Amino acid sequence: MENIDWGSLGFGYYKTDYNVRCYYRNGKWGELEVSSSEEITMHMAATVLHYGQAAFEGMKAFRGVDGKVRMFRPYENARRMISSAQGVMMAEPPEELFVEACKKVVKLNERFIPPYGSGASLYLRPILVGTGAQVGVHPAKEYLFMVFACPVGPYFKAGFKPVKFQIAKDYDRAAPFGTGKYKVGGNYAASLVSGERAVKEGYSNCIYLNAATHEFIDEAGAANFFGIKDNTYVTPKSTSILPSITNMSLCQIAEDLGLKVERRPIPVEELSTFEEVAACGTAAVVSPINEIVDRESGKTYKWGAEPGPVSTKLYHTLKGIQDGTIEDKHGWNVFVE
Ligand code: PLP
Ligand code: COI
Repeated sequence: MENIDWGSLGFGYYKTDYNVRCYYRNGKWGELEVSSSEEITMHMAATVLHYGQAAFEGMKAFRGVDGKVRMFRPYENARRMISSAQGVMMAEPPEELFVEACKKVVKLNERFIPPYGSGASLYLRPILVGTGAQVGVHPAKEYLFMVFACPVGPYFKAGFKPVKFQIAKDYDRAAPFGTGKYKVGGNYAASLVSGERAVKEGYSNCIYLNAATHEFIDEAGAANFFGIKDNTYVTPKSTSILPSITNMSLCQIAEDLGLKVERRPIPVEELSTFEEVAACGTAAVVSPINEIVDRESGKTYKWGAEPGPVSTKLYHTLKGIQDGTIEDKHGWNVFVE
């Protein structure tokens, strides 16, 4: 195993040994290729470079208490990448190709899979881009699908400690019937100015509201949002948020733990009624929030300095399923042997 101080890893790029690539040409996907290069070459008129034909995924592999390696729900990521591909008219990598590529990258970079209990994991970043040349605004005829891996620690520096978010109404991440529900590059480009400003002003990131009226909560930076009250898990319903696989899993776990689950629009003012609120995602896992400030009005919503009991239970249950210490009764894990 690689000699890394796993406990002090942050969330960022880390060079590993191999990545895998697959090219779509002449109307079909080729063979998976293994590469040790960190670089790719492509045509200067590739559609990814000017027309934004770019989608990605984020998922994790864990070394469990039994020494086995598990990927968490990769078929869901595969399906979401297909949906993103359809959203910006790219060739769709078949589910089996997607999962096989992920397994291969995990196996090839086995020495970078953090040990059980280190708090770190192996993050997989599948990418799909238009590589074919176009100058008129049209989809490419050629695509590259690739997957690389990096060992990562917590996304927010605090780890499982509450973080602060800012509500900004002067920037929108995604239009109501735009690309917000796809994991495409343009959404992240559109979030950079407000996100970096929030960081500069002392927050972890922005809470994005529905672009049409700025009345309802959409997402928490690169994560979904949930609130807890009256034994109920409440999470936004909106046409412009990414359908988070973590959130989908937490809804099921919440139900299993005897909570009610509601997916519905959440007005900003409702924040004051939640007992706990948090951001959730592959990178964010469950990140409790202890403060949300509306940048325009200065209105501040506050929660406890320590994670609340329900968020804590959800976090430990999710982590436990991922590392094999809690029964995976829904069959979410895919083993890499
Ligand atoms: N929302 C956005 C905008 C994201 O980038 C992510 C990260 O993938 C999520 C939500 C969380 O989704 P998931 O739980 O599938 O990682
Ligand atoms: C993830 O949670 O996997 C993400 O994609 C979030 C972010 C790093 C883009």
